[in-house]
Amino acid sequence: MTDIKKSIHGEWSSRFAFILAATGSAVGLGNIWKFPYITGENGGGAFVLIYLLCIAAIGLPIMAAEIMMGRRGKQSPINTMETLSEEAESDNRWRYLGWLGVIAGFLILSYYSVIAGWALSYVLKAFTGSFSGGNALEIKSLFDDMVGSPIQLTFWHSVFMAATMYVVSRGVSSGLEKAVRFLMPTLFVILILLLGYAMTTGFYQQGLSFMFTPDFSQIDSDAVLTAMGHAFFTLSLGMGAIMVYGSYLPKDISIGKTALYIAGADTLVAIMAGIAIFPIVFANGLEPGSGPGLIFQTLPIAFGNMTGGWIFGVLFFVLLVFAALSSSISLIEPAVAWLVENKDIPRIKACIWAGLATWGLGIAVAFSFNIWSGFTIFGKNMFDLLDYMTANLMLPIGGFCIAVFAGWVMKTQNSREELELPDTIYRIWKFLVCYIAPAAVFIVFLHVLGVF
Ligand code: TRP
Repeated sequence: MTDIKKSIHGEWSSRFAFILAATGSAVGLGNIWKFPYITGENGGGAFVLIYLLCIAAIGLPIMAAEIMMGRRGKQSPINTMETLSEEAESDNRWRYLGWLGVIAGFLILSYYSVIAGWALSYVLKAFTGSFSGGNALEIKSLFDDMVGSPIQLTFWHSVFMAATMYVVSRGVSSGLEKAVRFLMPTLFVILILLLGYAMTTGFYQQGLSFMFTPDFSQIDSDAVLTAMGHAFFTLSLGMGAIMVYGSYLPKDISIGKTALYIAGADTLVAIMAGIAIFPIVFANGLEPGSGPGLIFQTLPIAFGNMTGGWIFGVLFFVLLVFAALSSSISLIEPAVAWLVENKDIPRIKACIWAGLATWGLGIAVAFSFNIWSGFTIFGKNMFDLLDYMTANLMLPIGGFCIAVFAGWVMKTQNSREELELPDTIYRIWKFLVCYIAPAAVFIVFLHVLGVF
């Protein structure tokens, strides 16, 4: 491997472009839709604390590892793993880690796109004034009607998948980069506005104390697993998305700081979303643990009752769709990059195949909310099953292997050279990827399996 080698798919134009794209991947439905509802389901403060710990001790070092491995391998995760294991004179079965990632990305996107479709349909609802003056009951029935309709869900899911594949087909710099450039800052501004509204509900304090007063009696092993899995999910780790973005990263950029910015921005958005949502939940006598519909049943109440809420509602859901889009492109990019590299087909064709497969599985997910809701495996419908399998199992397993590879298999000299961290920081990183991150994942798994 030489230093001058570049990815055949192109490169980011600058460090800022990479930070934007990786932040675009990290910040998505995970922060605004998933974080609040799983926090609600798992009792609040203690769950948030475990999640934050996982971000710092597991997520951050693994993110640096993924960027570093991607930049060194310069290809899709499968081929990167092959190249890196050769360089480390190790077993080339490490490439299966790349496969695990490609499959996880595909599975996640199939349900991610359905939820993004909910957000799309809410753009229209906001636009036509459906939230106006709505109380909690009316807003809930709006949500129930949408989720109950297989046709609506399929339609919006199809629109979202088509948009995703369009952006991905445009390639690294003209597609991915342009899409994320102007979205992130605007989303942030709307969140601040929602926070302002939450303060006026009279339940701001209660929302804050729900999120930040830990009550460990609410926590069981599954809650810990969910918090850890979500740390991977929200940072887009464990399946090669950040690795493939890292492969488009030019040589002269500091990985450590970059990882810190991305994780920081991601966490900030999630916490802000939580602080904005829970006061509205309590002010309207809603149930924090009401599941995946939480933001769709709360935020429209805010938009329906604030001055100018119509325009803010439209803006918010448009931005949510864009935040989802800048994440979804990273879910499918590893598969597309691999198809282009190994099947020698044009990017467009790779997008069509990967997109069609994901779209098909997504339809089954859309139906699992209505006509197929009775169909369960292990007591979970298709949506719950895919979410559990990917976020709680595949991503932590992928992350575990990435940590082990970066910490134990790669030669110290190579990871040191690629990361270019100050010596003390490098040692801390190495300690975290060698010991803390793998041990944490392992212990949580043992706990869930009931070993202790
Ligand atoms: N991180 C994104 C979110 O929070 C979702 C996502 C994008 C993702 N790429 C990923 C999750 C890769 C896991 C792996 O919405």
